[in-house]
Amino acid sequence: MINEIKQRALQEINQVNNLKELDDFYRKYIGKKGEITKILRSLKDLSERERKEKGELTNKIKKEIINLINSKKLKFANDLNHQKTSWIDVTAPGLLPSQGYPHPISLVQEKIEESFQSMGFSVIEGPEIETEHYNFDALNIPKNHPARDAWDTFWIKNFDLLLRTHTSPMQARYMEKNNPPLRIIVPGKCFRHEATDSSHDVQFYQLEGLMVGKNISMANFKGVIEAFLKDFFGSKLKMRLRPGYFPFTEPSFEVDIKREKGGWLEIMGAGMVHPNVFKSVGYLPGKLQGFAFGIGIDRLAMLKYKIDDIRMFYSNDLRFLKQF
Ligand code: PHE
Repeated sequence: MINEIKQRALQEINQVNNLKELDDFYRKYIGKKGEITKILRSLKDLSERERKEKGELTNKIKKEIINLINSKKLKFANDLNHQKTSWIDVTAPGLLPSQGYPHPISLVQEKIEESFQSMGFSVIEGPEIETEHYNFDALNIPKNHPARDAWDTFWIKNFDLLLRTHTSPMQARYMEKNNPPLRIIVPGKCFRHEATDSSHDVQFYQLEGLMVGKNISMANFKGVIEAFLKDFFGSKLKMRLRPGYFPFTEPSFEVDIKREKGGWLEIMGAGMVHPNVFKSVGYLPGKLQGFAFGIGIDRLAMLKYKIDDIRMFYSNDLRFLKQF
């Protein structure tokens, strides 16, 4: 009976003309319910001697059939290759792999970094998870100071930790480890626990700037920022300083800019480093002066690319991201 199956299989495979038929053929003989499989399954009911004999024979035939199937498959593949090669259109344009795009925030951050680097600032990074000490206390914002309300904070429960509400903690971290004179910028992500709208999100990017030395003054600040803005926007724009309040700078101010069209827009907070901040990092009082500022990177990106909703940056919408 097994030999009869073999004869039949040998004849049938000659009639197989495509992969679909080959598949059917495989199923008929070798598949789960195939004829050969059935025979192999029935062996368990035989006596040991019979089982051995019949088993060996059946397995041998099974192997032969599988070999036939494989060589048929190879033949089909070869035929297909042949067909293909004879039809290659060498003038057809190639397929371009799809490319990624830099995020607008990254582009703007890079541009700001280049600009400040050309003025001798180094780029430093800091942790997004901060201690209460660096985010507040070292910056002259002790516990219970009402100014803490200005930074709606994501606290990390049961730890003395939080998501930094600004990049200013790096002022303290850096000054503790480095002596003046110094010039740094610190770009990075910040978080605030507040309602979102078209110009506020719970996360955003800030870029801290800090320059400290013996005779650093407001005039230096104005010079540096004006040079930066000119470099960044490349076009005419007006800048004005308004008095502001930050516990870690004195005096403090807000910086607004105005382009040819449109009104004044606030882009950064700034000021002269408060003596208490110098004290908290261990600098000798009275000897040093410096300025600090915090630029909203998202704001600058919105201005540069005329984007009217900050939430676009974090929505992962490819139609938006592909434009940069
Ligand atoms: N850290 C301030 C903020 O987030 C901005 C700032 C930085 C102000 C440095 C003064 C000096 O609002």
